[in-house]
Amino acid sequence: MINSKLPQVGTTIFSKMSALANQHGAINLSQGFPGFDVDDNLTTLVTKYLNEGKNQYAPMPGILELRITLANYLKRTYNCDISPEAEITITAGATQAIYNTISAVVNEGDEVILFSPAYDCYAPAIEVHGGTPVFIPLQHPDYSINWRAVKEQINPRTKMIMINSPHNPTGSLITESDLKQLKEIVSGTELLILSDEVYEHITFDGKKHESVLAYPELRKRAMVTYSFGKSLHVTGWKTGFCTGPDWLMKEFRKIHQYTVFSCNSPMQYAINEYILKHNPFEKTAEFYERKRDLFLASIKNSRFKVIPCQGTYFQLLDYSDISNMNDVEFAEKLTIENGIASIPISVFYPDLEDNKVLRFCFAKKDELLIKAGKLLCTI
Ligand SMILES: Cc1ncc(COP(=O)(O)O)c(C=O)c1O
Repeated sequence: MINSKLPQVGTTIFSKMSALANQHGAINLSQGFPGFDVDDNLTTLVTKYLNEGKNQYAPMPGILELRITLANYLKRTYNCDISPEAEITITAGATQAIYNTISAVVNEGDEVILFSPAYDCYAPAIEVHGGTPVFIPLQHPDYSINWRAVKEQINPRTKMIMINSPHNPTGSLITESDLKQLKEIVSGTELLILSDEVYEHITFDGKKHESVLAYPELRKRAMVTYSFGKSLHVTGWKTGFCTGPDWLMKEFRKIHQYTVFSCNSPMQYAINEYILKHNPFEKTAEFYERKRDLFLASIKNSRFKVIPCQGTYFQLLDYSDISNMNDVEFAEKLTIENGIASIPISVFYPDLEDNKVLRFCFAKKDELLIKAGKLLCTI
């Protein structure tokens, strides 16, 4: 017998809804992964490096060539000087970067402020390390942050504030004004920040991503996490990276070297050459904005109400004009009876707050989005 460290955790909703979709042959817009092929140029590069024998351990923080490319990219994009040697680590996806960061900084009794609805890997990582997640609800329906509520929650036990923009599951964006308010709150304190920016390239309608890296007062205390899975449409590669000031990155790497030591070598060489030669991030926003608009056009005549999506590849739809069922039951009914799987938003809240909203992933082929839209119009 063991004492479970996460007694309340069961199978995630993502696995449950995907299994239900498979069982009933439903279109699966539940889990957040691209339903189209990866660029051949990228897979060709992986093959090249596999054949060239880049098959042994990479250096612990990742291959330096890739870290230099990333530092240059971050400098161009967010005007920040990040040391490729000391302040960037290649990770096994953003999930490992988030878990490692929490592992490095959260001690028994610490509190971490986060916002609900929250991506599902945040709170369990805090709890495993004896910390307490302190949830502050984003303000429905625009899912903005109530900074007064954040200020009120800060006390001597508060160790870190976690933010996520573009935001999964809501598609909302943190603004310049948000980051200025965050700056005011943390200035003169020892509070840390974990900023999850895995959807940095996916912002719409001319809006740009606001990164904590662009703010020196925030950057000096922030770990920032990124995912090649999201930015290069290769979620199955579980490769990403994180940045942090050298003093924090030193602690991060102490944990990293004993969790994975280093990450997949051929992928790192291939990603480096791909970024340098093909500039892949430039067109990502345009690519997904077209898909969002196609999905929205295909549900124009439905009874669902659209909650504006400013970034990510998730569209929220409010079904309160259609049914009074709770969102988990409604999502199941939609999968079983109407052939379309989504994710109920209540599962991202600690108290399962139900606003009658479902999340649909539009990182899928056009034909599938049109077919899904047709089905949604019949409800
Ligand atoms: C907000 C957010 N953070 C982190 C991750 C995990 O990224 P990775 O697949 O690189 O571990 C995801 C994946 O869906 C996500 O949506």
